[in-house]
Amino acid sequence: MPTMPPEQEEKMLAAARAAFKNAYAPYSNFRVGSAILTECGALYSGCNVENASYGMTSCAERNAIFAAVAAEGSGMRIKAVAVATERDGPCAPCGACRQVIYEFGPEALVLFRGQSGTEQMAITKLLPEGFRL
Ligand code: THU
Repeated sequence: MPTMPPEQEEKMLAAARAAFKNAYAPYSNFRVGSAILTECGALYSGCNVENASYGMTSCAERNAIFAAVAAEGSGMRIKAVAVATERDGPCAPCGACRQVIYEFGPEALVLFRGQSGTEQMAITKLLPEGFRL
């Protein structure tokens, strides 16, 4: 099971925390930030962006991943994903984001707050049998 050293974990979580400050979440008041570490070694961040038409909401993780694709192109590969929220309490990526993480990082490590602090978990544990074409 892959893991990340504490300094790198803290760097990713700090980037995710910085990102939630820009979230647009007037409906849920639940601000989320995410940071993506790519195989190239670059970090990209994203925040959740909501809409009055609720279903148009876009999660922090997917926004960060799409920023990484825009910067690096279609070959972008995810090494790790961090998730942070403004509120205390657990927050693992939603199911839709797990599938998108898997697309670009089938071996990605996901950092998130679990029931008792930060968890480092392989995407394949969060999403067994992810969909592939
Ligand atoms: N949200 C995320 O940004 N990421 C997740 O993994 C779970 C949910 C956002 C979507 C919405 O803006 C708010 O959290 C409440 O669901």
